[in-house]
Amino acid sequence: MNLADTEIVLGILKDDGYEITHEISRADVVLLNTCSVRDNAEQRIYGRLGNINSLKNVNPNLVVGILGCMAERLRQDLVEEKKIVDLVVGPDEYRRLPEYINIAFNGNKGIGIKLSRTETYDDIIPFREDGLQAWLSVMRGCDKFCSFCVVPFTRGRERSRSLESIISEVKQLSSRGFKEVTLLGQNVNSYNDNGTDFADLLIAVTSVDPSIRIRFTTSHPQDLSDKLLYTIAEHPGLCNYIHLPVQSGSNRILELMNRTYSIEHYLNIIEKAKKIIPGVSFSTDIISGFPSETYEDHLMTLDVMLIVRYDGAYMFKYSPREGTKAFKMEDDVPEEVKAKRLQEIIDLQQKISYEKNQELIGNEETILVEGFSKKSDQFLSGRTDTNKVVIIPINPNIREGDYVNVEIDRTTSATLFGSVIKKINYDDKNIAVST
Ligand code: 5AD
Ligand code: SF4
Repeated sequence: MNLADTEIVLGILKDDGYEITHEISRADVVLLNTCSVRDNAEQRIYGRLGNINSLKNVNPNLVVGILGCMAERLRQDLVEEKKIVDLVVGPDEYRRLPEYINIAFNGNKGIGIKLSRTETYDDIIPFREDGLQAWLSVMRGCDKFCSFCVVPFTRGRERSRSLESIISEVKQLSSRGFKEVTLLGQNVNSYNDNGTDFADLLIAVTSVDPSIRIRFTTSHPQDLSDKLLYTIAEHPGLCNYIHLPVQSGSNRILELMNRTYSIEHYLNIIEKAKKIIPGVSFSTDIISGFPSETYEDHLMTLDVMLIVRYDGAYMFKYSPREGTKAFKMEDDVPEEVKAKRLQEIIDLQQKISYEKNQELIGNEETILVEGFSKKSDQFLSGRTDTNKVVIIPINPNIREGDYVNVEIDRTTSATLFGSVIKKINYDDKNIAVST
């Protein structure tokens, strides 16, 4: 989400005549786009700011600014007390960034932290380097108010971008040769543009160019509809991959988290999705050590992991966030217990990932080739539509951006290794033909 926002900011600043430098010592303005979702993200920013501020000794006119979710929270501390930042602009005020930068150039503090109910940056063309993979925000904000989460406070109320502007952006990406687009929102399942829901949006997006793979994140288990599952099943351009955060396997904890679903409801969706979309994969988010979490609650989380058998998981220790409902609950799971439970969750996920990868040996998978493998230019690296990395030997007929069918020969918990069966081409009408 922040990467996509940074591209919006770059789009706005480029329009105003700014250029990007990859050498920080040459910059007149340095902006850090920040995340508040967990405390360690915030701590990292303090470290970075320390380093950047030393550049002011060389260039006293350097403007240093904070963008994103930390803006509101840290305005007082960074601008007024520590005075180490010249401007602070929150996620809904990027349009006015050139104005705030000028204020800062004139020696004053540029501060824009108001949240909006309508801003979607619909008409802004994000600045993206050429490549295969693009992020595209389809909505902003969140109305869910999970009790642990700071997002509804830092990013404001939920609002959807217009279908028209999304389609026009996807057309541009298609003409520039992008091959994978990930639609982003805190809760994409509640996308709504005057009655166009998320499933309708996916159909419209995949119809622009069926040779572009479409991914999306994040889905909330309460709002994931049957219509969406059937839509994924029916359209080959939509990846058979759903990121569906569970957070905890215990109904008592889910209720305290205000997640608004039970684990039975969650597992029911998983079962339905597996029936409707053959070969579908899931990933999830899990929090360990939420207030009052017992060992039994923790075991229920491990149980859910064993039932669903996720392809991947983002796993976190609970981090109290000021202003949230959970912040008022006692953070009573000791740090070492949180860490131990988190490690058990990570170990189990690694074991499941390894076993699931082993099951793929001998299977034929379609991958999008992304370039040379990180370790050797004798190998290419690609991804399956379920987001698994596959390494194949280089081949004179295969280039970055090609779709290739491969047979999986061997695996580790993180990587698959395969051999090429055939390349997939797209004809004039963008219909896949094997060659
Ligand atoms: N502590 C730990 N993890 C959190 N997340 C959100 N807020 C917190 C918090 N306070 C995690 C959730 C969410 C993901 C984006 O970050 O798992 O799905
Ligand atoms: Fe936060 Fe919950 Fe909204 Fe996700 S759905 S952004 S966890 S409030």
